[in-house]
Amino acid sequence: MTTYITTPIYYVNAQPHLGHAYTTIVADTYSRFKRLCDNNVRFQTGTDEHGDKIVEAAEREGVVPKEYVDRISGMFRATWPTLQIEPDHFIRTTDAEHIAVVQQILQQVYDSGDIYFDEYTGLYCQGCERYLTEKELVDGNCPDHQKPPEEIAEENYFFRMSKYQQQLIDHINKHPDFITPERYKNEVLSFLSEPLEDLCISRPKSRLTWGIELPFDEKFVTYVWFDALINYLTGIGYPAGENFTTYWSVAEHVIAKDILKPHAIYWPTMLLSMGVPLYQKLHVHGYWNVDDTKMSKSIGNVVRPKELADVYGVDTLRYFTLREMSFGLDSSFSSESIVARQNADLANDLGNLFSRTLAMVKKYRGSVIPQPGDYTEEDRLLQEQAQKMLVQYREMMGSFRFHLGLQAVWEFVGFANKYIVVSEPWSLAKDPALGERLDTVLFNILECLRFLALVVQPVMPGAALKMAGGLGIGLADERLSSLDKGGQWGLLAPGETLQEVETLFPRLESEKKQEQGGKKKQKQKKVQDSKKQSQESDEGLISFDDFKKLDLRVAEIVAAEPVKKSDRLFKLTVKAPEERTIVAGIAEHYGADELIGKQVIIVANLKPAKLMGVTSQGMVLAAKSSTGDGEKLVLSTISENVLPGSSVA
Ligand code: MSP
Repeated sequence: MTTYITTPIYYVNAQPHLGHAYTTIVADTYSRFKRLCDNNVRFQTGTDEHGDKIVEAAEREGVVPKEYVDRISGMFRATWPTLQIEPDHFIRTTDAEHIAVVQQILQQVYDSGDIYFDEYTGLYCQGCERYLTEKELVDGNCPDHQKPPEEIAEENYFFRMSKYQQQLIDHINKHPDFITPERYKNEVLSFLSEPLEDLCISRPKSRLTWGIELPFDEKFVTYVWFDALINYLTGIGYPAGENFTTYWSVAEHVIAKDILKPHAIYWPTMLLSMGVPLYQKLHVHGYWNVDDTKMSKSIGNVVRPKELADVYGVDTLRYFTLREMSFGLDSSFSSESIVARQNADLANDLGNLFSRTLAMVKKYRGSVIPQPGDYTEEDRLLQEQAQKMLVQYREMMGSFRFHLGLQAVWEFVGFANKYIVVSEPWSLAKDPALGERLDTVLFNILECLRFLALVVQPVMPGAALKMAGGLGIGLADERLSSLDKGGQWGLLAPGETLQEVETLFPRLESEKKQEQGGKKKQKQKKVQDSKKQSQESDEGLISFDDFKKLDLRVAEIVAAEPVKKSDRLFKLTVKAPEERTIVAGIAEHYGADELIGKQVIIVANLKPAKLMGVTSQGMVLAAKSSTGDGEKLVLSTISENVLPGSSVA
C-alpha cells in the first residue's frame, strides 16, 4: 500500500507557530503510522513564497523579496526537525522546477479554452489574497480579517471554474470520504448549491511583480493560489516523474478550515480542467486558540512551537496537540492544560507503568526477561485488551481521529496498571513456590510495554525510542516497526537483558507562582460575585427584564469526554450554533455515547469558568430528581430536534 500525505505550504510572511506545527505534526504522525502499517509513504510540506503578503513583509524588513523568503523558508525548514517532523520533501514555490511546471499547466489550460481575458470589478481582501463574494462578508468585513475588502476594477485572466461545478458536486456526492470531517463536506456542498463564479487567476505586473509570469501574457503574473496548489503535483515530479505515477493516485491533503475553499473548490476544478484525477482525501481540522482567544500577533499571544518543545519536551507537545484536539473542532491551548496532560497521562499513567515494571524486573529477576509459564484467565484478558486496543488504534489513527486512537491506548495503559495491582508481583516474589507465576506476570507486563512502544511511536518517536532501548530492542526491529508483525503477543525474547533508561516523562510544576497569584484574585472575585448574586436574589422573585438577560439556547452535543481526575465532570463540545466547550457534572449519570447527538438546553451567556483546568463556556440545564438510590440528574431536552443555537423563549 502507498500513502502520499501533504500539509499546506505555509506563507513565509510569518514564523512558524502552534497552528502550523499542529498540521505538520498531524501529517508526520500519520506518515509514521502508515509506515508502521508497512506502507510506502511520502510526506511533503513546504513554503508558499509568492504574492502581495510576502512583498509587504519583505518591505517591512527592508530587504528584497528573495532574500526575505530564503530566510523565513529556512526557519520553517529548520523548525520541523526540532519537533521530530521528518518530511520526505520540502517544496518551495520559488523552486525552478515548480515555476516551470506551473507555467506549463497555465499554457495547457489556456490552450484548452478554460482561461479567458475579461474586465472585473470585485471586492478584494488583501489578507485572503482573493476576491470575496458579497455573501461572504459579515457586516461588510472579511470574516477572517475583520476588515472591509477593497473594491478593485481591472482587466484580468479568469479560469472557467463554473464549468466544473456540477462535476465537482457529483464527485463529492459519489465519494463520501472526499472531504472529512463531514461538517466540512456539508459546508462545501452548501457553498456549491449557489452558482459558482469563475476564478480570477492573474495579477497585472503594475500591481504585483513577485509571482510566476503568465506564459501567454508577460504583463501579468499568476494568482498565488493557482501557483500554490500546484505544489502538490510539482513536488512529486508531475507530469512525467516516477513519484507522480507512484503517489498521486493516493494523495491526501491536511489543512485547517481557513483554506477549505481553495482546496475543496479551486483545486479539484483545476485538476478537472487539466485532466488529472482528483486527490483522494481532504482532511480538515479546526483552529488552535490560546486561552480561548484567537492567536494573533496584535494580541501578542502567538505560541511558538519551538519554545513549547524547549519547555515541555517534543513528545509532550506532540502528544498534547493530538490528544487535546478533536480533529475538525477548535481547541484551546493553555499552559495548564499541557502540564495536566504531561502529569496525568504521561508521567503518572504511561511513565509510571514503564518505570515500575523495569524496576520490578530488575529487583526480582536481575533485569533479565523471564520465561513465561502457562497463561491464566487474567492473562488472556490482558492479551485480549491489547488486541482490542490495536484494532481501535488502527481504525482511529487511520481515519484522523487521533484523540480517540490515543484514548484507546490510554485505556490499555490503565488496564495494564490494574493488572499489576491485581497480580501483586510483590506478594508473588515473597514465595519461591510462586516463581513461575511471577515470571509470567512480569513477562506479560513487559509485553504490554512493547505494545505501547509500538503504538506511541508515530506520536512520540522520542519516548518510543527510549522505551525500545529499555526493552533492549531497537526501533528498527520488526517487533517494534510493524503493527502486523509486532501485534502478536509474546514476542519478547526470554533471557535477554533490559537496559537502564532515564525517566520517560518528568512531572512538571502544575502552576507557576505568578499564575497562582492571578488565581487567588480570580477566586476572590468569584466569592464577591456570588455574594452579590445572593443579595440580588434575596427577594426571591426576579423581574422579566432580569429573565431576559438569560441567553437560553438549544445546543447539540457533538463530543463528550471525561475530565481527567474527576468522576463527575464531562467536557462537552456543543454546537449552539458555534462550537463551544461546556463542562457538565453529569458523568455519573450518562455515558459519552448516550450524549453525542443529544440536543439540550444551555445557558449561553454565563461568564466562562474554569473547572478542573477546563474552561466552560456556559451551563447545561438538567433536572435533579431524587430516587431511592440518591439524586439523579436528567438532562433537559426538547421534544423534537431543531437547529442548534435556536433560542429558548
Ligand atoms: N499558503 C497558504 C496555503 C497554500 S496550500 C496550497 C496558507 N498559508 S498559511 O501560512 O496561512 O497557513 C495556513 C495553514 O496553517 C492552515 O490551513 C493550518 O494548516 C495552519 N494554521 C495556521 N493557523 C492555525 C491555527 N490557529 N490553528 C490551526 N492551524 C492553523 O494559507
